[in-house]
Amino acid sequence: TDPESQSILDAHEWMTKLYHHMLRNSKEGKNALQYLLDRGFTEETIQKYQLGFSPTSPTFVATFLEKKGFHPQTMVKAGLLNANEKGEYFDRFRGRIMFPLRNHLGKTVAFAGRSLGDQEPKYLNSPETDLFQKGRLLFNFDLARSSIRKSKTMVLFEGYADVLSADQAGIGNGVATMGTSISETQAQLIKRYADRVIVCYDGDDAGTTAAAKAAKLLKQTGCQTNVARLPEGLDPDDYIKKFGGDRFEREVIEASDPYTSFIINFLRRNYNLQLEGDRIAYIEKVLQEIAQLERAIEREHYLKALAEEFQMSIDTLKSEVEHLKAQSN
Ligand code: UTP
Ligand code: MN
Ligand code: MN
Ligand code: MN
Ligand code: MN
Repeated sequence: TDPESQSILDAHEWMTKLYHHMLRNSKEGKNALQYLLDRGFTEETIQKYQLGFSPTSPTFVATFLEKKGFHPQTMVKAGLLNANEKGEYFDRFRGRIMFPLRNHLGKTVAFAGRSLGDQEPKYLNSPETDLFQKGRLLFNFDLARSSIRKSKTMVLFEGYADVLSADQAGIGNGVATMGTSISETQAQLIKRYADRVIVCYDGDDAGTTAAAKAAKLLKQTGCQTNVARLPEGLDPDDYIKKFGGDRFEREVIEASDPYTSFIINFLRRNYNLQLEGDRIAYIEKVLQEIAQLERAIEREHYLKALAEEFQMSIDTLKSEVEHLKAQSN
């Protein structure tokens, strides 16, 4: 590691501890701690994830880092401080719940700061550095690793809170991206460490659309991919808090749909199946998905369902799929 990166790592280690300490012990951190407890996060989870609180004073961190001898310009680069035109330094994160973002070695390389109220942005993130690239890191990968190894499965969430709630409910193999869509690097990382991935995004339009994109990429990367369904308006964290972890495991994780089932359903939203033209376009689209399946038995399964739904002969559909397969080879 070059000296600048080492300095950024050291500063993040100090700040992880200091923010955590402020959440635990400061008068100002009390509200933040209460907020987390009210949301159902336990002391154990707060400890395990080293959640913290950034005080509202504009120079709390600046003063601390200066005393420790860190170069302020480096700290600006690291995203811990901001500078103004006069060359004065101020804290970037103020009055927020701090989520340390750890790399695969368990070192904090960035932070996400959640506002306590309705303040925008909801999550303020560190800028990218040599040590922190959003497209290369999976939140919680370091802690999830042993559970991933055992289950050979990874659960991909949208948010940090979902990962924490799932872990609290005994599902330790959860990871998340940093609010961006999943990159090829992240998909390959998942493929390398797990045989199977379950995409478990929020139960809203944005979540469903993002899940379709993520699942498609993961499938293309060669992962056995399932997609979980959540009730409209709930995310995994909401669901667990409302219905409990056991029900989440049974009715969301275990009941997740294989990629092809999910996508066949997802595609429906683009068509009005009452209209003949739409119906044919939809069937063609579904046949294209089926044609991509490796196993004949899988193709047969979905063809049969399609034939039944649209009252067509399976032989017609099958020959269409063979045709599509030949074309793509
Ligand atoms: P969500 O809006 O679903 O937030 O964004 P959440 O995870 O459910 O958070 P809570 O429960 O309200 O606390 C999903 C993810 O998108 C990123 C974060 O990584 C968040 O976890 N995000 C969201 C941002 O980076 N910035 C934002 O302002 C909002
Ligand atoms: Mn501690
Ligand atoms: Mn969301
Ligand atoms: Mn959410
Ligand atoms: Mn949430």
